[in-house]
Amino acid sequence: MKLFIDTANIDHVKEIASWGILDGVTTNPTLVAKEWKDGSAGSPHAFEHAVLAMCELVPCVSAQVTAEDCAGMKKQGEEYARWHKHVVVKVPMTTEGLKALKYFRSKGIRTNTTLVFSLNQAILAAKAGANIISPFIGRLDDAGEEGMDLIKDIMTAWEQYHFDTEVLVASIRHPRHVAQAAMLGAHICTIPYEVFLKLPNHPLTDSGLKKFLEDWKKVGKKL
Ligand code: G3P
Repeated sequence: MKLFIDTANIDHVKEIASWGILDGVTTNPTLVAKEWKDGSAGSPHAFEHAVLAMCELVPCVSAQVTAEDCAGMKKQGEEYARWHKHVVVKVPMTTEGLKALKYFRSKGIRTNTTLVFSLNQAILAAKAGANIISPFIGRLDDAGEEGMDLIKDIMTAWEQYHFDTEVLVASIRHPRHVAQAAMLGAHICTIPYEVFLKLPNHPLTDSGLKKFLEDWKKVGKKL
């Protein structure tokens, strides 16, 4: 399973990339606004610079179009794709988005379809040529549904056909979501920084290491 970080914070990308396990980054307008909430983007190229810095660290960086019509999405997506070959154009799951997906596929521009909340949406995006689809699990949980059931349904459907579209589990809220996504065979999980920091931890690892180090001190040797 590929692990992506869901952030627009370059320091967070650098930290997780330094662990040697990071395969990509997903950004969205909300995450970008969080980084520049006081309008301090400074240069009109601030987003481009952040995306480029991330592209130096990982092979797959999703940058979301904000246009709502197909023509606008094409223009914005083509500009993003020119920035760096690691850029993946993120397109919302709308009918205009579907048209744009088809176009980007024909141009060899990689895409990630965002805001997927049903199996039917997943199928449409895959048929339109999306390279990645992003079902939002946490938001379904928040709405009182079982988000992971959607991943189960999509992976079951994917077994029947030959879609080359990767399933990226998004809107992850806690470490259990990551493990569940892996058990269902999802191709990618995009994980917030705070959840990433919890993944390496286990209390038995901490207590086990403490004991090893205490015992080593008793040996009285230094290597
Ligand atoms: O990449 C977008 C997705 O992960 C959003 O997550 O926490 O805003 O539901 P969240």
